[in-house]
Amino acid sequence: MSAPNKSYDPVEVSALQPEALERARDEALAAIAAAGDLDELKQVRLAHAGDRSPLALANREIGALPPQARAEAGKRIGASRGAVAQALKRRQAELEEERDQRVLVEETVDVTLPWDRAPRGARHPLTTLQDRMADVFVSMGFEVAEGPEVEAGWFNFDALNFKPDHPARSMQDTFFVESEDTDVVLRTHTSPVQVRAMLSRELPVYVVAPGRTFRTDELDATHTPVFHQLEGLAVDEGLTMADLRGAIDAFVNGMFGEGLKTRMRPSYFPFTEPSAEVDMLCFVCHGRSVEVGAPACRTCSSEGWIELGGCGMVNPRVLAACGIDPERYSGWAFGLGVERTLMFRHGVEDMHDMVEGDVRFTLPFGTEI
Ligand code: DAH
Repeated sequence: MSAPNKSYDPVEVSALQPEALERARDEALAAIAAAGDLDELKQVRLAHAGDRSPLALANREIGALPPQARAEAGKRIGASRGAVAQALKRRQAELEEERDQRVLVEETVDVTLPWDRAPRGARHPLTTLQDRMADVFVSMGFEVAEGPEVEAGWFNFDALNFKPDHPARSMQDTFFVESEDTDVVLRTHTSPVQVRAMLSRELPVYVVAPGRTFRTDELDATHTPVFHQLEGLAVDEGLTMADLRGAIDAFVNGMFGEGLKTRMRPSYFPFTEPSAEVDMLCFVCHGRSVEVGAPACRTCSSEGWIELGGCGMVNPRVLAACGIDPERYSGWAFGLGVERTLMFRHGVEDMHDMVEGDVRFTLPFGTEI
């Protein structure tokens, strides 16, 4: 604040001149009118009505005037500051009203919009098919067994009678979790669940094991590195290949319709002896497409038969590795591919469709939860 001005020097207190006050007031009023939102108005208030605003600074100068001039200067300043304060108040109210209207519009919730029409998620066709396949065996009295996807090499190979130099063990087919030496793998089939079931359950054992399996295949129309299998295992006294055949026939009739014949072709798996590939009569052409002049069948490629999977009598070495007396007990096992089954059962031609998660592929299978 300036020192008391006994001689009233109008130059020194030019801030209190009527024109200066009017200018400060008009500038303030213009800035207030121009403020477009509450934040801007806050800045304007600071600049034109704050402690360091021209009018506030002028007000401080009153003390520097000779006493006889103070009342009038005070009145003039008071009027200007009053006008500014009022304009601020009005603009504040206007801008608040504007903001409230905007918020009402922007945050409107249309309670009449349908809330129950969002597309629902559903299980993947592979999952529902896998469950359905397992269910056929559950209906015959089998239990569902599970095992880990990250598996010890011993369960995946050794206990199943794969010799240490078996080619399936090599880097070419198997995902090793760390190095080949640690012998921890992503299971290459669901057969290790057989071993776990025999080791952990009382005899007799009747289990099916659906699950995810892994091999170092490139994704293409007929291969995928992550796929699914359904394993079956029965261990009891007096089981024969006829029981295996009966169970597979029951599965084929349950999944594809009554009266479809099956056939077995000799094959080889280290964990079964004897081993077989099992085929079923094509459920679309019933084998007729092989006849001369018959229409072609897309489902079996006019072969008449469809390959289902591998099976056989559990190798006595595998029973022994699981602590089961092969003299007293026998067992049979099978392994079916779930992707393959989805392909021929539903006419899926490209494996990409199963892994890409496009609802245009999955929706026609239904939205079963
Ligand atoms: N584990 C075999 C595979 O992945 C499939 C298989 C064949 C399983 C014969 C079995 C069996 O249980 O008996 O190729």
